[in-house]
Amino acid sequence: MSEVVKMIIEGKTYEFPVIEGSEGEKAFDITKLRQQTGYITMDPGFGNTGSCTSAITFMDGEKGILRYRGIPVEQLAEHSSFVETAYLLINGRLPNKQELTRTSVQLNDDSLIHEDMQIFYQNFPRRAHPMGILSAMINALRSFYPELEDTDPEGINRTFLRLLSKIRTMAAMSYRISRGHKVVYPRADYSYCANFLNMMFHSPVRPYELDPDIVEALNVFWILHADHEQNCSTAAVRVVGSGRVNLYAAISAGIAALWGPLHGGANQAVIEMLTNIHKSGADIEDVVRRAKDKDDPFRLMGFGHRVYKTYDPRARIMKKMCDTVLPKLKVEDPLLDIARRLEEVALTDPYFIDKNLYPNVDFYSGIVLRAMGIPTEMFTVMFAIGRLPGWISQWKEGADDPNWKISRPRQVYTGNIATDYVPINKR
Ligand code: CMC
Repeated sequence: MSEVVKMIIEGKTYEFPVIEGSEGEKAFDITKLRQQTGYITMDPGFGNTGSCTSAITFMDGEKGILRYRGIPVEQLAEHSSFVETAYLLINGRLPNKQELTRTSVQLNDDSLIHEDMQIFYQNFPRRAHPMGILSAMINALRSFYPELEDTDPEGINRTFLRLLSKIRTMAAMSYRISRGHKVVYPRADYSYCANFLNMMFHSPVRPYELDPDIVEALNVFWILHADHEQNCSTAAVRVVGSGRVNLYAAISAGIAALWGPLHGGANQAVIEMLTNIHKSGADIEDVVRRAKDKDDPFRLMGFGHRVYKTYDPRARIMKKMCDTVLPKLKVEDPLLDIARRLEEVALTDPYFIDKNLYPNVDFYSGIVLRAMGIPTEMFTVMFAIGRLPGWISQWKEGADDPNWKISRPRQVYTGNIATDYVPINKR
């Protein structure tokens, strides 16, 4: 007989079926809870709530494991390319040579942006945050490319590639236009990552010289960000998508969710924090003391994670990357020393030890991006480009499920009980 969980509510016993995942994690299915008992569950922040079953990404937060479609992220970082990893996430398997070549060609072919869209860029205020611009522009794609909404599987796949292709152009374009520089489109002979760097930094007077190690670092950066199961932005994509809105709107919602400093915006917040420490000459022990003080809203940015209760496997790779990328670019960044010292002090402090707070992916990633010449306000955009394959594959998994239900949580109402309306002259 399959496993059940028994619950006694007001003296009556109810049974709920247990769902078991392929890695042994268990959930009890409360779909019928309210109907049978009149109760709902309360779980602010959803720390104990499964919103779906998923075959895309596996995380074990206690052991520090992250796998895409079963493959450890460390192996993908060492052997794969971002385009191949995107294919893996979206299609559920690694591509063969022909499929990979076709995907890469398609990504370059689809990279142009409707000329009229460029006018939008010109009209954003110069100080507009690139995440706000990206979210708006991705949403606007729906108006410019309505034909991308094909409903046959081939058309949908084409849409995924077009999104992956255009997000790269849009990100580089927002940077170039903010600098008053002409837009650079991709070259057919460059890889996805090489093209992005070239689109960002090429100048007619100083052609951008590609360094294979830096291209590889960007490749790894994007692989590490490619998916992370039901995080805040992915949950946003699934929730918004569950109302059957078009894919662009769902991805645009994901970008908006990612922007927050507790989520993807932490990579920008970390550099701002390290810069403040550097400029003020603050004592590292004092900074850690502030982060522990419950009366001080300050937190150590780039530390802690809802799922990881040990070192984030992505942070481990990112930290190592600092040791290769910075010397290669002949960059000596004082912020790296501050970050290392902060980590050292925090990881020997009982507060951080007891609460299992370790560096997350954002702690060292900004130092790598900074060394590459990416401006701080573009950091979360870099995260968004990396996360796009994850958002697409999670949206696709929902859309392919014939029982995809609209997301609609319940609440426990705590407001006024029934109260009569009082006319304005009697108040
Ligand atoms: N500095 C100081 N204290 C912290 C920190 C931190 N960075 N993170 C958590 N805590 C404390 C928190 O005050 C709480 O203490 P207590 O139990 O005494 O109230 C305890 O640790 C648990 O924290 P929580 O806020 O309940 O945990 P959460 O799972 O709701 O939040 C988090 C996770 C990532 C939002 C949080 O750790 C945080 O704010 N970190 C800093 C922001 C950051 O680096 N975000 C990037 C996350 S990784 C990228 C991604 O989003 O995928």
